[in-house]
Amino acid sequence: MQQDQSQTVLVTGSTSGIGLAIAHTFAAAGHNVMLHGLENVQQGRALCEQLTRYGVNAGFSNADIATETGCSRLIADTREAIGHPSVLVNNAGVQHTAPAHEFPTDKWQQILSVNLSATFFLSKEILPAMRAGQWGRIINIASVHGLVASEQKAAYCAAKHGLVGLTKVLALENADCNITANAICPGWVETPLIQPQIESIARNESVDMDAARAQLVGAKQPLAQATTPDAIAQLALYLCGKFANTITGAALPVDGGWTAQ
Ligand SMILES: NC(=O)c1ccc[n+]([C@@H]2O[C@H](COP(=O)([O-])OP(=O)(O)OC[C@H]3O[C@@H](n4cnc5c(N)ncnc54)[C@H](O)[C@@H]3O)[C@@H](O)[C@H]2O)c1
Repeated sequence: MQQDQSQTVLVTGSTSGIGLAIAHTFAAAGHNVMLHGLENVQQGRALCEQLTRYGVNAGFSNADIATETGCSRLIADTREAIGHPSVLVNNAGVQHTAPAHEFPTDKWQQILSVNLSATFFLSKEILPAMRAGQWGRIINIASVHGLVASEQKAAYCAAKHGLVGLTKVLALENADCNITANAICPGWVETPLIQPQIESIARNESVDMDAARAQLVGAKQPLAQATTPDAIAQLALYLCGKFANTITGAALPVDGGWTAQ
């Protein structure tokens, strides 16, 4: 079965947090992995060396995927480094919090570009070859904010809701070619992305970082624990395995009960 073979996996935003955990998990399972993020080439090379220790090929691109041109560069870099991707994990994301009536326009544009449009451009570019190969997996790291809203996150919620919708369209359009598309919707995951929000609570409430973290997570999640990046990575790997053949168009919460309320 093709899904049990070694795959070529492009993980966007994989120099940090969830993406880096996904890269390690796929490499440890024997898949070739393209790392990607805004780090410099030297930092990228060091991260690649960690992956090649698993006995797989690894490459790195620091293409800025906020533009269509940057997305094309990432695909070209990937094909050159490790070949055509049969698995695309759209993970890169950015965040900014402010009320809608004060939201900076440049932040709105950046969040929509990186968190939503890049997935469209990368999928558009990768799908013809994926369809020709009659197998593929697209995994979009969305968020609970693709399913429900929170204050101060107009751009992030708009982008992530859009990402869930885009995932469903990609699933429908490519089911004829054995290609699945799914969204993973995490609640709080302990990564650098959420640090500014923890620091803001610590500052405003004059509490230490542990208390601020507990407050942030517990305010939304009945199961008041942050998810580990490795847990998200294991679900992504499962979605590429033989038991996930018929999971497509799904938006899978990993959120401590956040969206069950
Ligand atoms: N951390 C959480 O609690 C949480 C919860 C739900 C969803 N998510 C989603 O998971 C994904 C990963 O989040 P994380 O917490 O690991 O983030 P992170 O900040 O640790 O990593 C983000 C990655 O994206 C890359 N990136 C950002 N802008 C880029 C650009 N313009 N071009 C290229 N690369 C760019 C960074 O270099 C980095 O590798 C995001 O889509 C985020 O929205 C995170």
